[in-house]
Amino acid sequence: MYGISRLILATAALVGMLVILLYYGAVENNRMDTYAANFTGRDIEVGADIYYQACASCHGANGEGLVGPALNSADLLVNAEGQTRPPRLIERGWSGDLRSYIEGTVTYGRVGTVMPAWGTAAGGPYRPDQIHAVASFIMNWGEDPGKKWGGAEDRIAIGGVQPVQPVSQAIAEAPPRDVQSAALGRYMFQGPAGCAECHTFDGATGTVGPNLTGVVEQFGRDYVYQSIINPESFGSGGHAVGNMPVGFGFTMTEVEIQSIIDYLENPGAAGDATGATPATQPEGPLGPENGRALAQGNACLGCHSTDGSVLVGPTWQGLYGSTTEFEDGTTAVADDAYLHESIVNPTARIVKGFSPLMPQTYGDSLTEDQITDIISYIQTLAQ
Ligand code: HEC
Ligand code: HEC
Ligand code: HEC
Repeated sequence: MYGISRLILATAALVGMLVILLYYGAVENNRMDTYAANFTGRDIEVGADIYYQACASCHGANGEGLVGPALNSADLLVNAEGQTRPPRLIERGWSGDLRSYIEGTVTYGRVGTVMPAWGTAAGGPYRPDQIHAVASFIMNWGEDPGKKWGGAEDRIAIGGVQPVQPVSQAIAEAPPRDVQSAALGRYMFQGPAGCAECHTFDGATGTVGPNLTGVVEQFGRDYVYQSIINPESFGSGGHAVGNMPVGFGFTMTEVEIQSIIDYLENPGAAGDATGATPATQPEGPLGPENGRALAQGNACLGCHSTDGSVLVGPTWQGLYGSTTEFEDGTTAVADDAYLHESIVNPTARIVKGFSPLMPQTYGDSLTEDQITDIISYIQTLAQ
């Protein structure tokens, strides 16, 4: 009797525990699903930022094609009838899948065409995860091929993800470590990256993960960087490994990750903690180095060389201060005002021997400060 009642008791306890475990399991799964959806959305968004900075000038704002072929096309994105691959892949004899086709082309460029190599593997500015993101963005058009996309509001696509503020920043280089960087970090931490939901720090009260107060001071930037991009690499006293989402290295740009570390290192530098407007971009001209990053990120260097060779457009070597001759026979000295006009209104005067192929959208997509930086970069090439 005694034995049986103990058994019943033990069974009841076990069932009770199981119910609790199942309940928490379900809650946890739900949470993971939400994160997974957020990451996919974020991946596409990062891709959108890269696309509008680096690709739209040649492939069109809606992927409709300009100097480069249309990317928003069923021909590229939708399997041919009765086939497992889209027509364009079959045509080019590509035996891999669509993602590897796009990522390979973007990473290595197309030799002998103006399509630049964008991947770090081939000397370009973007890491593999950023190439993955821009491929995700392009492939997302396949959900609705031929659709005319309206720009920013249309950037978010799947999984019921809420749009987050796009973070546009020259991807190639980290911004100077300053107030704006920590502010961007705070915005990412409390907003789109969701760190605050799991961690206690600077007013955030999450308890799933460790308290991050003083973490950079204690363990150093490298450790924190590794913990963010590869959370499985370390366990942390009393907190189970596996509960921090993997994939941040994949869905955030290098600039965003470094900004978060800046914020963790010095939350005071993010300014007033109640300030609602996150800084996404340092203000004011930043100089020729930033100009170079912008010229790369905005595809200028896909058409303009800096070594005297002629690509789609004239070289920038020796351009500043020289005399440019136009199709109509007139000339002008390439000073700041002329360069500004060439960038915001490229068809005003066409350089002799060239076609009017330069995108006319830079006046809208670049700020005055950014244009100033690009001009100061061109000036450094005057020799
Ligand atoms: C300077 C102009 C230029 C820029 C900038 C540019 N592309 Fe291209 N791209 C081209 C051209 C031209 C081709 C076609 C090359 C050929 O003839 O095979 C191409 C081809 C491609 C293809 C293969 C399309 C197909 O149907 O085979 C993909 C994918 C692509 N580009 C993606 C991108 C992405 C992503 C970016 C930005 C990171 C980008 N391109 C930036 C000019 C450009
Ligand atoms: C779903 C919950 C969750 C989210 C979201 C999350 N973390 Fe974590 N984090 C954890 C857990 C749990 C750990 C401890 C176990 C481990 O190291 O994997 C951890 C560990 C860390 C550590 C190591 C701390 C130490 O003391 O060793 C750092 C740094 C960190 N997270 C930063 C971040 C940042 C930055 C973000 C946002 C980009 C973030 N976390 C988002 C749960 C989360
Ligand atoms: C798709 C190719 C292409 C891209 C991308 C491009 N340009 Fe051009 N650019 C041209 C061509 C072609 C010309 C010459 C025809 C003309 O005057 O419009 C030109 C002319 C210029 C000139 C005048 C050069 C001279 O010798 O007088 C400047 C300055 C310039 N571009 C700056 C830029 C900047 C800055 C960017 C990026 C923000 C950029 N271009 C992106 C093709 C391009």
